[in-house]
Amino acid sequence: MNQKEVIVTGGMGYIGSHTTVALQNAGYSVFILDNLSNSDIGVLDGIYRITGVRPGFKKLDCTDISGMRRVFEKHYNAVGVIHFAAHKAVGESVSNPLMYYRNNLNGLINVLDMMGTFDIPNLVFSSSATVYGQPDSLPVTEDTPLKPATSAYGQTKVMGENIIADAVRANPGIRATLLRYFNPIGAHPSGQIGERPNGVPNNLMPYICQVAAGQREYLNIFGNDYDTPDGYCVRDYLDINDLADAHVAAMRHLQSGGSGVNVYNLGTGRGQSVMQLVDAFQRATGVNIPYKITSRRAGDVSSIYANADRAARELNWRAVVPLHETLASAWRWQKKLAKSK
Ligand code: WQD
Repeated sequence: MNQKEVIVTGGMGYIGSHTTVALQNAGYSVFILDNLSNSDIGVLDGIYRITGVRPGFKKLDCTDISGMRRVFEKHYNAVGVIHFAAHKAVGESVSNPLMYYRNNLNGLINVLDMMGTFDIPNLVFSSSATVYGQPDSLPVTEDTPLKPATSAYGQTKVMGENIIADAVRANPGIRATLLRYFNPIGAHPSGQIGERPNGVPNNLMPYICQVAAGQREYLNIFGNDYDTPDGYCVRDYLDINDLADAHVAAMRHLQSGGSGVNVYNLGTGRGQSVMQLVDAFQRATGVNIPYKITSRRAGDVSSIYANADRAARELNWRAVVPLHETLASAWRWQKKLAKSK
């Protein structure tokens, strides 16, 4: 058994696949658990083409406790778990909250249960800036008070953080790091892996890419009357490969010792408005993005961006990929996706 194995749940998804690449490049071996509910087995080939290594893989739903036990029994020597496996569509979680609570919370509880049973000490959890709601002041630090979540999806992230804190308090043999992501975008520069939205994309970047590819006529921009410098919503868009590297840094940091729960914001520290992102995409790719201004989207906060100084200080991690490279990688991946259809 490899002493540096990490179990990655949801490792076939957008963030999970890029993190698997980063882990393998850093010398870890990876065992992926994924139910393939929002991903494709071909992702393994993409990871192999980039790294020359095929990660271990088992098709499994984290809510299946007997299946989880069988896997963890074999992989009891793993140094840690990175838990991505979860549903993530905000709108769907509002119309089907029980599905979100059942899946996202049971999956996490089973992961913690198995880590306790098999003495696996290190957990990295995929949390979200959504836990801050609309903060009273910007940028957001990890000490910014959390606001009540506006969706069941957001609730599962807040509740997930609390479940982990309680589990770690009860079992000091487990230590955990909660990573609060801002808005990850882009793809691996090789064009081998990227985001594969199902149906009409909810998120801005894949929607822009589909407009650029001619799959959709125009982008709907949700509101231009926000209290922001140009009237458009502001977010902190970070490169997916930077985000993946943060997971490696977080796992290394956990392995170096300590106890309890760490929390880190992962963002660039810079806010970009929707219109600034559209302009930057046009400049980076040379492709025009037709758009229409429509009404605000329910639940959108007007502005949020990170103070990620703690991650810089403690994990030695910073977002470094320039935005134009991120946008070019997103477009490269979109063209590849369009060809493969
Ligand atoms: C970004 C900006 C929209 C689409 C959500 C979740 C978060 C995380 C990531 C999930 C906003 C605007 C968008 C479009 C637009 N979770 N927009 N037209 O809402 O910041 O975060 O996704 O995986 O928890 O809340 O990201 O990409 O949906 O929106 O104008 O067609 O783009 O209004 O200002 P968001 P997003």
